[in-house]
Amino acid sequence: MKNIMVTGGAGFIGANFVIYMLEKYPQYQVIVYDKLTYAGNLDNLLPVSDEPRYHFVRGDICHPQTVAATIEKYNIDTIVNFAAETHVDRSIMDPDAFIQTDVYGTYVLLEAARRFRLERFHQISTDEVYGHIPAGYRSQETDNLAPRSPYAASKASADLMAHAYFVTYGLPVTITRGSNNIGPYQYPEKVVPLFATNAIDYQPLPLYGDGRQMREYQYVLDHCEAIDLVLHHGQLGEVYNVGTAEELENVAMVNILLQTLDRPGTLIKHVRDRPGHDRRYSLNIDKIKALGWQPRHTPAEAIVKTAHWYQKNEWWWRKIKDGDFKTYYQAQYGDRLQEAQ
Ligand code: NAD
Ligand code: DAU
Repeated sequence: MKNIMVTGGAGFIGANFVIYMLEKYPQYQVIVYDKLTYAGNLDNLLPVSDEPRYHFVRGDICHPQTVAATIEKYNIDTIVNFAAETHVDRSIMDPDAFIQTDVYGTYVLLEAARRFRLERFHQISTDEVYGHIPAGYRSQETDNLAPRSPYAASKASADLMAHAYFVTYGLPVTITRGSNNIGPYQYPEKVVPLFATNAIDYQPLPLYGDGRQMREYQYVLDHCEAIDLVLHHGQLGEVYNVGTAEELENVAMVNILLQTLDRPGTLIKHVRDRPGHDRRYSLNIDKIKALGWQPRHTPAEAIVKTAHWYQKNEWWWRKIKDGDFKTYYQAQYGDRLQEAQ
């Protein structure tokens, strides 16, 4: 592995991964290939912008010619595919881009990886492909996929296609399925950065339904370490869950945020729930632990660290929240917050 193409590298996890890999491996070149949708942001890559081993290509994973030209130009041997539409609520409002990017775009990348005989195709997947998980059970990598939102269904489709390329063409594929990541550079539509930045401004925190849904909030750099490990030591054709094995109710997550930021509980507004809301995700992480990884942060530690980052980095999120985000926020929360008055 020498020349890694990180698709979606200008997004939240992708950018953290790029910064992490360039620092850890002085012999690697990293080529970020990103369409720069609303979620892509070159500010996320400022820490490496002067690094000669980092290159940026603006491109869509749905465009086979641009993908091929980039692979040829940079002599790419490895693709790590983070590029995706990622927000469940947006997939409910309009699934189209999710099918284009997450399903068709992944197929375009797999086909390019096959044509150029790449050393590795690594697919970044999610615990959402397993669907709602009843109390007392943790999802295993071999479980059937049961996605329930358009986003989750698009990611499950990509996993199945990646697996099919391994079985049918012998493409060296690996897959990681991560739980809810939090940390620096997460677009403030996702719950933790949305609530942290709203709380800083004494704005309401629109908690869906009873707020007792459970998520495994994990620190993004823990996830990056796990991806790195699977890239170097994972078994081809295998899937690895990456989480904390410790889920938290959303109400507990909000209370940690409010305590960290020293804001009152009265900011919480219970609003109309997300349709088809999965109540619980929970991962069995024995397989990745056996490979030599474990999370460095508990969910509570990750939430505190993330809240502090948003407190210290207003330069990063204020310009996002002052831009097009306002239109999205109004469409997503305007009626809900009014109903909750
Ligand atoms: P993000 O929304 O922050 O970033 C997505 C990036 O992909 C953006 O830079 C965007 O510009 C780019 N992109 C979108 N469509 C593209 C296209 N057609 N061509 C090229 N680039 C495109 O996402 P994230 O939260 O960093 O998630 C990254 C990956 O990790 C996704 O595949 C997501 O499904 C997966 N994942 C996310 C989480 C999480 O909690 N955020 C957890 C598990 C898995
Ligand atoms: O589990 C991994 C997934 O985590 C990733 O695959 C997705 O890309 C990522 O967006 C995330 O999905 P979630 O739907 O779990 O994340 P979100 O931040 O949107 O919501 C987390 C929880 O908080 C969920 O139970 C819904 C709730 N929520 C969310 C928002 C945006 C609220 O109560 N209010 C909100 O305003």
